[in-house]
Amino acid sequence: MARQVHLMVVGSANTDMVVSAARIPAPGETILGGEFVMVPGGKGANQAVAAARLGARVTFVGCVGADLFGNATRDNLRKEGLDTAWVVEDPKAASGVALIAVDSSGQNAIVVAPGANMALRPEHVDRAMDASGDLDGLVLQCEIPLDTVDHAVRRAHAASIPVVLNPAPACTLPQGLLSCVSCVTPNESEASVLTGLDTSTSDGAVEAARALLSMGAASAVVTLGKDGAVVATHSGVERIAPYAVEAVDATAAGDCFTAALACAWLNPSDAGVRGAGVEHERLVRAASYASAAAAVSVTRLGAQPSLPTFNEVAAFIEQAR
Ligand code: RIB
Repeated sequence: MARQVHLMVVGSANTDMVVSAARIPAPGETILGGEFVMVPGGKGANQAVAAARLGARVTFVGCVGADLFGNATRDNLRKEGLDTAWVVEDPKAASGVALIAVDSSGQNAIVVAPGANMALRPEHVDRAMDASGDLDGLVLQCEIPLDTVDHAVRRAHAASIPVVLNPAPACTLPQGLLSCVSCVTPNESEASVLTGLDTSTSDGAVEAARALLSMGAASAVVTLGKDGAVVATHSGVERIAPYAVEAVDATAAGDCFTAALACAWLNPSDAGVRGAGVEHERLVRAASYASAAAAVSVTRLGAQPSLPTFNEVAAFIEQAR
């Protein structure tokens, strides 16, 4: 039997407070929405749970507060089958919380109170990496301190562990960091912040994907929501066609995309297949798989409740043929 891909996800864990409404309120406005739901979220935990549901063995490194939300977060991650030995607790900070409004087209507006997520330090990553044996990849986002992201990426790169970096929320990355990244996965607005280019058109997104390679990334996948994605490697650029679905909530779609891409791309059953053209094809296939997984996620409300299993994605791809 093929060995499971082993990923370490370093990142945030939040409790999401979600309200659906006809539209996102304007500044200063109060509107009435629908029911309130509270679900597990946080970009890091979402990616970790998505990868586990898609069949990966996942070690999660994060930080929660010594409160009810922190305990619930840890219990939930354990229930999802993750290794939570490296989820640390900050006794002085509250656990991360996100306030989310979702409109009738599935678009959202999110405010995060990161709390304990900002207490995740490089030494926490070091302890986890020292103890975790062989890893097939490291997956990160930017909802934790950037110096921790920087440290984890550089350490993995030095150990020849492939790094998938989802630069969300949009930020300016530390100088030279992209040179240590195997694949960077921004959405169009994050790609615009990183490159300074206008990504509002498909050609602009292609240009930004190429620019990310010039900035040092070994490959880039720019996600474009309902317009698909653009994959760029030094062997070429390819557009990934979108899957058309009825959108309910786009929350965590990007997290699901990055996790699914990492699971498919870093799968050890493909190890040993080498060569630039082959690597390009493998990334294109992984991005297409990730696009299907993300499409399933947008048909459901909430971050982690929306993340599909391996079998659900397989069935979705089969019926979309
Ligand atoms: O990417 C979606 C996530 O962003 C939510 O789950 C919320 O917690 C914020 O981190």
